[in-house]
Amino acid sequence: MRKYPIIAFEGIEASGKSTNIYHFCKYLKKNKINFIKFREPGGSIFSEKLRKLILNKKSELNLETDLLLIQASRSENCEKIIKKYLGKKLIIIDRFTDSTIAYQHYGMGMDIKIINQLNDFVTKKIKIDLTFLCTVNKSNMIKRLNLRKKINKYDKFNYSFYNKVQKGFIKLSKNHKKKYVLLDSNINSVKDNLNTIIKNFKTV
Ligand code: TMP
Repeated sequence: MRKYPIIAFEGIEASGKSTNIYHFCKYLKKNKINFIKFREPGGSIFSEKLRKLILNKKSELNLETDLLLIQASRSENCEKIIKKYLGKKLIIIDRFTDSTIAYQHYGMGMDIKIINQLNDFVTKKIKIDLTFLCTVNKSNMIKRLNLRKKINKYDKFNYSFYNKVQKGFIKLSKNHKKKYVLLDSNINSVKDNLNTIIKNFKTV
């Protein structure tokens, strides 16, 4: 086991991502495991400012601007957070490069080559050790999304968009089987998923 791996959580809205991260962090605190957690877009002080710009309901930025702001936010995180804590603390990231592939490419149809180049350009040699992909089926997705308040720009898409994004995530997980663990929020309880996270975290 690598003492302080980098772990990412990915998944569409209403997939249970935040719940899984919350319970994992509670477990880490209880077991006195040193960790740092941040989200994307957002994270470093400057990146949180960018998050507000990107997700603001009133912002009418074009797709390219959004993509570049997301990458700018990531670039700051790589420099200011990841490099600083790499090997010193467990790093948990709530969304990372695969979200850009899933949302901007599979969801919005942007060029995959450009996205991959930008991901490589900003992350340099930083590699995620393990990714937990949180999934939800269509009927639960619809139910849960209807209960959510439309709090930001990315909460306003329709089901078919989220469906495309989730299919994209699943494709990515199949291409990188060794590093991906699926957490199904339809059939597994929160406790089952936490046990899966802990088991895989211990062997990464
Ligand atoms: P969150 O609500 O889980 O923090 O995610 C914010 C939104 O940002 C979510 O709808 C996904 C979107 N997003 C992208 O479109 N591309 C990205 O690269 C990232 C990190 C997030």
